[in-house]
Amino acid sequence: MSELAGRVALVTGGARGLGAAAAKALAAKGAKVVVSDVRDGEEAAAAVSGAYVKHDVTSEEDWIAAVKFAKDTFGGLDILVNNAGVFWMKPLPMETIEDFRRMQQINVEGVFLGLKHAIPAIAERAHQWDGGGAVVNLSSVAGIVGAPNLIAYNASKGAVRLMTKSAALEFAPQKVRVNSVHPGIIDTPMMADAAKVIEATTGQGSNTIRTQFASRHPLGRMGRDIDVANAVAFLASDAAAFVTGAELVVDGGMTAI
Ligand SMILES: NC(=O)c1ccc[n+]([C@@H]2O[C@H](COP(=O)([O-])OP(=O)(O)OC[C@H]3O[C@@H](n4cnc5c(N)ncnc54)[C@H](O)[C@@H]3O)[C@@H](O)[C@H]2O)c1
Repeated sequence: MSELAGRVALVTGGARGLGAAAAKALAAKGAKVVVSDVRDGEEAAAAVSGAYVKHDVTSEEDWIAAVKFAKDTFGGLDILVNNAGVFWMKPLPMETIEDFRRMQQINVEGVFLGLKHAIPAIAERAHQWDGGGAVVNLSSVAGIVGAPNLIAYNASKGAVRLMTKSAALEFAPQKVRVNSVHPGIIDTPMMADAAKVIEATTGQGSNTIRTQFASRHPLGRMGRDIDVANAVAFLASDAAAFVTGAELVVDGGMTAI
């Protein structure tokens, strides 16, 4: 229950979806949680008796302020979950350079800034914990395998996968572990939005689309937010003390094929 007692976690994009679920899983293990998001996250923060800070992950100023907020509010920082991200599918000829860059700005630069500004704070007291400090980056199965119409997202999540390994090696001497999680298709607002776009462009009904999403996983269903949140909480905890630079797929077997 109190596996993470004394730890302070910052979860980006924590207002909804996988971020809100990760915040709950970390709080359930006893961590104090800062929920950060560009959208209002007061409700998600209240649900975990945590604190909300408005934070656009593309802004270096916001990152500096969010890390300071965690320190001022809860006394330090031990865990970062780089979760904030955006998703869309577009055929390559329709993808604009502006949109491509925007996705990299949020999904890649947002993670880069998080590693840069949060790891020094995490390292300050990583020696206190058996498992050291921890960063968990939300990549995707799309960071491991390609898919059509996913050029910008594939690029961004592939980058997150290897930035994870780079940071893991750089900060191992300071006892900060850095790992990535690679979800399949998880039932969150992000995927509900994607389903609506598919519905509008193909005319397929939402049940058909959900069935198609489910059938992509050998386990025969879409993922639930708790499936991913449990993996995040494991990697953040001392149970993963010897795990760094690793990629944990949570994809119902999708990439085992
Ligand atoms: N849902 C899935 O199927 C799935 C699969 C693989 C990976 N992922 C990844 O998991 C993460 C969370 O996905 P989700 O499904 O919960 O998405 P979501 O859209 O439901 O939630 C994402 C949150 O990130 C926030 N966000 C977006 N841009 C931001 C910015 N610039 N600064 C701060 N916050 C910002 C949003 O406000 C939102 O609250 C993302 O990185 C996503 O790419 C999701």
